[in-house]
Amino acid sequence: MVDLDALEMQALFSRAAWLKEARQRGHAPQTLQGRVLGMIFEKASTRTRVSFEVGMLQLGGQALFLSSKDIQLGRGETISDSAMVLSRFLDGLLLRTYSHENIEIMAKFASVPVINGLSDTFHPCQILADIFTYIEKRGSIQGRRVAWIGDGNNMANTWIQAAVKARFHLVLACPEHYDPDPAVLMAAQQALGNDSEASIQLVRDPRAAAEQADLLTTDTWISMGQEKEQHQRLQAFQGYQVDQSLMSLAHPDVLFMHCLPAHRGEEVSAEVLDGPQSVIWDEAENRLHVQKAVLEWLLSPCPF
Ligand code: CP
Ligand code: NVA
Repeated sequence: MVDLDALEMQALFSRAAWLKEARQRGHAPQTLQGRVLGMIFEKASTRTRVSFEVGMLQLGGQALFLSSKDIQLGRGETISDSAMVLSRFLDGLLLRTYSHENIEIMAKFASVPVINGLSDTFHPCQILADIFTYIEKRGSIQGRRVAWIGDGNNMANTWIQAAVKARFHLVLACPEHYDPDPAVLMAAQQALGNDSEASIQLVRDPRAAAEQADLLTTDTWISMGQEKEQHQRLQAFQGYQVDQSLMSLAHPDVLFMHCLPAHRGEEVSAEVLDGPQSVIWDEAENRLHVQKAVLEWLLSPCPF
């Protein structure tokens, strides 16, 4: 997210809207013919894997799914060596990993663009699709009020960075000990300064965050890699479920988003997730359109 400036983000969204409309008309521009994306997954994925793979195919290129279990990376070959070798074969790399440092090492040693397909700290491709979805439904996100309820995880950290780029008011309600990354928060607050259309606030009370929100969003209480903490996390997040009573505090036009996979009855009630204010299926679909724009931007010999 930090690698994109505001104008680049706007250009990506315009291109994503065009690609979405083109697909609806049955038009498939072959802008990535002959290009190959390598996708290394150290964690499970449905949306990220399928949307990138399908996106590459629709644009005339190809994607290689590389489970870290099946390549030498999983047996201890270093990320730097893997990055240098794979750069000789591929036009781009995507990595889904645990430590964010792994993405930074890959980006440092690869000679092709590296896409963060989710780390423990950030999930930029998802947040781009979320902001695109909000703009598609409501026109603009600038100056709007976004409420994050629950864990200060990779999604929360990326929403914080996005508030700086897309300029909206972000209120995060997280229980004690589950705050977002303090360095990410401080850097974003410093970057914003006294912007009247954007701010970032951390609160404990989900109701305070939900009040007059234009967008309410949450994520699992137990992210990938935290399975051993399940019991203590389920306790810690009691009172942080996004349910209809929380939604009723928001602006009447509020949208609900969730990156998925969701856990009905934990971070969100079934009534909200499957209810009329929820846009989760469009949000998931938009991963494809936005990522196709990202892929063209990074991999095309003549990007838009
Ligand atoms: N939202 C998201 O990134 O989903 P996957 O884990 O299925 O890729
Ligand atoms: N926070 C979640 C997001 C899944 C897309 C996780 O990291 O598991």
